[in-house]
Amino acid sequence: MVDLSVRVGDLRLKNPVVLASGTCGYGRELAKFINLKMVGAITVKGLSMEPWQGNPPPRIHEVYAGILNSIGLENKGLESFLREDLPFFETIETPLFVNIWGKNVKEYVLLARNLDAVERVTAIELNLSCPNVEKGGVSFALQEKVFEELVGRVRHSFTRKIIVKLGPQIFDLEKAIQILEREGIDFVSATNSFPGLAVNVDEQRFVFSRKVAGFSGPAIKPLALKLVYDIVSVTRLPVIGMGGIVCWRDALEFLLIGARAIGLGTVNLIYPDAAQRILKGIEEYLDQKGISSLEAIIGKVR
Ligand SMILES: Cc1cc2nc3c(=O)[nH]c(=O)nc-3n(C[C@H](O)[C@H](O)[C@H](O)COP(=O)(O)O)c2cc1C
Repeated sequence: MVDLSVRVGDLRLKNPVVLASGTCGYGRELAKFINLKMVGAITVKGLSMEPWQGNPPPRIHEVYAGILNSIGLENKGLESFLREDLPFFETIETPLFVNIWGKNVKEYVLLARNLDAVERVTAIELNLSCPNVEKGGVSFALQEKVFEELVGRVRHSFTRKIIVKLGPQIFDLEKAIQILEREGIDFVSATNSFPGLAVNVDEQRFVFSRKVAGFSGPAIKPLALKLVYDIVSVTRLPVIGMGGIVCWRDALEFLLIGARAIGLGTVNLIYPDAAQRILKGIEEYLDQKGISSLEAIIGKVR
């Protein structure tokens, strides 16, 4: 029997598979396809204080090896989540990560404070790629001072685990990691989607109303691996690696370079049962190699 459990800091997950934010709804949507008790953790769709409509359609555009999405952070807001979805999570023991975003630092802090009172929430994950309305719509990850203030204030407002989710756009990776370590952030997750663009040639216009959309899926895997590799190189903070994972081999690439868990995103939209297939593949791989515990191979390729 292969032991698939992993230590992510002092959190033990029964296996490394984390469902990534925005691709498994609020859990119930995916429960029709997989047994959610079998995954290491679930990350719900990014929540804001108030319900948020997101962007007008089209919101998804398929390209050769990935998708562009312009969902625009649509969500039902904290209150509805707590009322309508949290009870479902009381019926399963799987660790629950709640991805959050706000339009300014105050909103992140308010969300963190509210969620601190909800015992069922294992960790909050800060999505920092959203536009900061107080700084002219530039992402929080692009402004060192705001990043520092945000992370520090959220840390003081939430007593359990905090994950900071990074993407390719960050003011300075090493400096950002130093801030996360100094402020006592628990884990880093990477990567968020990449900024991408698509043009409608027939109508000679941009595909999305906001022009730029988030690019994810298999095409970003090498880019995501490089980012995760770089993060692991400069910190001892546990990293949840994601970006373009489709099969168990992709997942193992992230674990071998030192990610302690892996996130499944776009693949959930293509194969909703991907988590189970990937876990089975990892288990068979370890079994064939005569390795009894997944921990033994984490970070073996550095
Ligand atoms: C449709 C869609 C919605 C997403 N929504 C969120 C979100 O609300 N918050 C967040 O931090 N990331 C969000 N993401 C990013 C994913 O969680 C993940 O980081 C990214 O897609 C890269 O992984 P992948 O290539 O496996 O999809 C979303 C991605 C997709 C495709």
